[in-house]
Amino acid sequence: MPRPTIQVLPDPLAVARAAADVVARVIQRRPTAALALPTGRTPVPLYAELVERFRAGRIDFGRVRGFNLDEWVGVAPTDAGSYAAFMERYFYSGVNVPPANRFIPNGIALDLEEECQRYEAAIRAAGGIDLAILGIGNNGHIGFNEPGTPFSIRTHVAVVAEETRRANAYSFADGRVPERAITVGIATILDATEILLLATGPEKAEALARALDGPIDPAIPASALQRHPRVNVIADAAAAQLIARRD
Ligand code: PGA
Repeated sequence: MPRPTIQVLPDPLAVARAAADVVARVIQRRPTAALALPTGRTPVPLYAELVERFRAGRIDFGRVRGFNLDEWVGVAPTDAGSYAAFMERYFYSGVNVPPANRFIPNGIALDLEEECQRYEAAIRAAGGIDLAILGIGNNGHIGFNEPGTPFSIRTHVAVVAEETRRANAYSFADGRVPERAITVGIATILDATEILLLATGPEKAEALARALDGPIDPAIPASALQRHPRVNVIADAAAAQLIARRD
C-alpha cells in the first residue's frame, strides 16, 4: 500500500493554496467530479481561495457535485449554526456549483435512518466520491466518525464526542451544541478515489502524528486513511510538528 504523501507548508494560507491546486487538478481532469466537502475552521481559507480562483475565471464548478461530510441533527438548514449555512456563506454563494448538485444531509429529516440511506444512495448514484477533502478533529475524528467508530460504517447518525462539542461551541450563538450529527461513514470515505487531508494549528499535532505514524486503530479514526492507496496530507508546520515522516 503506497503511504500518504505528506506536504508540510509554513502556514494555513499556503495549505489553502496547495489544497486548491489539488481540487483544481481533479476538476480539470474530471469536470463532473464529486467532491466530499468538510466544514469547520480548517477549510475556510481553502473555500476562500477557490472562490477567488472562480472569480478570476481559473476554475469552473459548473458540473461539479458537492457532498458535505456531515450535518448536525436537529439543526435546520436555515439555522445559522447549520453546515448548510456554513457552505452557503463560505463556498456556494461564491461559486457556480448548480444548486441541484449541492448535497448536504438533512439534519431535521423525520426519519434519520432513511435520510442516511438516501444520502449514501445519492453518493452511489453520483458514481462515488472522486476527491474526499477532510479535516481532522483534535481527537483524530474524520467527519463525525469519533474514536471507536468501526471502519466498516457508512453514512449514519453519530453521537458527537464531548471534546468535539466543546471545540464547536463557537458556531452556536447560545453555545449549545447538538449531541448528534449525520455523518458520511469511514467506509464511504475510504471508497473515494482520492483523499485530501488538511490539518492546521498546533492543536492538531498529536492527532495528526497518531493518524499517520501510529497503528491503524479505531481509537484514532483518521488512522483508517493508512488503508487508502491515494492520500495527500497537507499540513502547516504547527500541525506537522510531531509527525516523524514527511516528503
Ligand atoms: P476544525 O474541525 O477544522 O474546525 O478544526 C476539523 C474537524 O473537526 O474535523
